[in-house]
Amino acid sequence: MILLLIFPLIFFTEGSALCPKDFLLFKRTPTAKNNFTKEYCVGFIPFFDMNFREDARSVCAFMESSLALPENQQELDAIKRLKGNYSIAVDGEYSTHCKARLYREEFGRPPYYNFEKGECNPKNDLFVFDDPNTDPTFFKNSFPAWVGVPRRGYNAIHIGDSEVKLYRAPSCVMMEADGWFAIEHCTRNPRNDEKDTLHEYLGVLCGVHPRYPK
Ligand SMILES: *[C@@H]1O[C@H](CO)[C@@H](O)[C@H](O)[C@H]1NC(C)=O
Ligand SMILES: *[C@@H]1O[C@H](CO)[C@@H](O)[C@H](O)[C@H]1NC(C)=O
Repeated sequence: MILLLIFPLIFFTEGSALCPKDFLLFKRTPTAKNNFTKEYCVGFIPFFDMNFREDARSVCAFMESSLALPENQQELDAIKRLKGNYSIAVDGEYSTHCKARLYREEFGRPPYYNFEKGECNPKNDLFVFDDPNTDPTFFKNSFPAWVGVPRRGYNAIHIGDSEVKLYRAPSCVMMEADGWFAIEHCTRNPRNDEKDTLHEYLGVLCGVHPRYPK
């Protein structure tokens, strides 16, 4: 009797989940790490200059959504098909705490920053995320235990006889044309107000809960 009552309910609910236009609906395993999300809409929004994190964040916000990531391989494969060969902005950015550590401890060293241990290991808390409805474990596991920080640099400011180095390092997660994750600059270089990225990011990945119209 209970089964008979429950089954039609589940089918009705699942059948009626509605995503915004051009978003894909994914079923997810609800856990504490994804805000117990059972179904989620993830969409690729084409937009120019998504190199800049605040702009990418704004485009998702305009769609009443947030920056997002795939939660598993199946979602990654579907998102790769959806975005085609575009390089796009996705959720995830170094925590301010780890940026501070990078600037303080690592800038004088060889060109690969080694996040071996502790908080700033990519598997731990190097990254912070906008989206509470996606478990970032799959993303974190796709990173090696170390992340090279090529193309870091500084703008030198001369004050009297001394030089102050104003550091810049890539710190935002992007998805490249081939579907791999990369860390990129995501603010304008204050020296010339230009973007500092290797590629043009021409879209953004956004996520939102489906609607369930009655
Ligand atoms: C958690 O999920 C519920 C819907 O299941 C949603 O209403 C709520 O906004 C989510 N929490 C956050 C912080 O996004
Ligand atoms: C992406 O695909 C389009 C059309 O399929 C092509 O014109 C363009 O050159 C490709 N871009 C890259 C970076 O491969």
